Amino acid sequence: MRNLLAGHSVIPVITLDRVEDAVPLAEALVAGGLKVLEVTLRTEAAVEGIRQIVNHVPDAIVGTGTVCTEQQIKLSEDLGCQFMISPGATESLLQAGERSTVPFLPGISSVSELMRGMEYGHRNFKFFPAEAAGGPPVLKAMAGPFGDIGFCPTGGVGLHNAMEYLALPNVLCVGGSWIAQAKLINEQRWSEIETLAREACELAN
Ligand code: 3PG
Repeated sequence: MRNLLAGHSVIPVITLDRVEDAVPLAEALVAGGLKVLEVTLRTEAAVEGIRQIVNHVPDAIVGTGTVCTEQQIKLSEDLGCQFMISPGATESLLQAGERSTVPFLPGISSVSELMRGMEYGHRNFKFFPAEAAGGPPVLKAMAGPFGDIGFCPTGGVGLHNAMEYLALPNVLCVGGSWIAQAKLINEQRWSEIETLAREACELAN
């Protein structure tokens, strides 16, 4: 998980309402330089959309997001996903993640949640909801006792504040929905999404 995150500073969080948008959206993001794509399991279109991206966009590194149940871990495996991300870290999810061969990034927003994840061997976490949970000062404070832990802050992160997070040594990458915006997807404005992806990519370099 660390290699995957550390090599890709921005992960677009994607919510698909229509299967037909999956491939052109993924192509636009990859063309803009963002290859690691988190597709949330929040909509009916997500499963078939992921399948299509896996089959038709070979340069994309596709994973599931909003993974909240053991069944969704199994589903991520069946879909051939390369990673799985959860907003949280329940005991049953951590156990299922431990049994899976697919790299799993649990979500935390407190020290005790972090420590529970560490008990399962995790060294990388989604920090969610990043802005609402205290933002960069919290991650700076965590670097003291948990110096070897890496984070992917998500939730309220955008172009305006991504650099504040990425400047921290314990931030591996940031995630967010500001690139694959619902309105742009809905209107199939792929070149604008590609521009946003490029902008995000440049910001990180
Ligand atoms: C997520 O699913 O990770 C978050 O909902 C994304 O948060 P954002 O919409 O504030 O970027």
